[in-house]
Amino acid sequence: SADYPPFEFHVLQDGEDKIVGIDVFLAQQIAEDMGAELEISDMDFDMLLNLMNKGDVDRVIAAMELKDDRAAAADYSDPYYTDEAPLIVVRKADLDQYKTLEDFSGKTVGAQTGTTKADIVLGTDLEKPHMTDVQDLLLPKVTDLIAQLQFEKCDAVVLDAAVAQKYVASNDELAIVESIDLGEAAEPYRVWVAKGDPKGLLPGINAAIAKLNSENKLQSFIDAANELATKAVE
Ligand code: ARG
Repeated sequence: SADYPPFEFHVLQDGEDKIVGIDVFLAQQIAEDMGAELEISDMDFDMLLNLMNKGDVDRVIAAMELKDDRAAAADYSDPYYTDEAPLIVVRKADLDQYKTLEDFSGKTVGAQTGTTKADIVLGTDLEKPHMTDVQDLLLPKVTDLIAQLQFEKCDAVVLDAAVAQKYVASNDELAIVESIDLGEAAEPYRVWVAKGDPKGLLPGINAAIAKLNSENKLQSFIDAANELATKAVE
């Protein structure tokens, strides 16, 4: 779901549309360590686990956190990255209106379909920070959500922290609501494989992640992705 800089996003390199990002570099490294060839499929986030279980892809790497319903549908690797608490993006011109989560009551708030950010908007888990009395706008693509925010079709979009920062950095008219803390809401990202790991991929994936951690190599992927994110295209 390559709508999620710095984790997976499109850039133009030598006139060619390419998918890059922290997750892509991780995917390349895992493939290399496992002696496999990497082929990337860009799909809507909410379809990823289904399509994987159908056999369309062998693994899902999409800034995907651990959640009960996902764990019931698929198997997952050791964690490879934990983001900071999610952030709320609004139009800069309206920033003053928002100080607390309650200030979104009566507003239209967007999130990507099937994500943990949608859970915050929908109030799926009442134990965790969430919004109440909001009109939800759930769309499969983050790029479309950002466009809806710019066109004033919604008032806010909830995103993973690093992703919110990237969209705000590349859109002058957008801003982050810094005063709202959605702490405790970020779970580590995992690589996902089909339920029961029928192809026996998890040991190799976990070994690649362990090696990466011991060499502290993820940071070089983060640096490379940050550099490229300044040139992101939709
Ligand atoms: N981290 C969030 C989740 O696990 C959102 C991930 C969205 N990923 C993407 N590639 N668009 O639900």
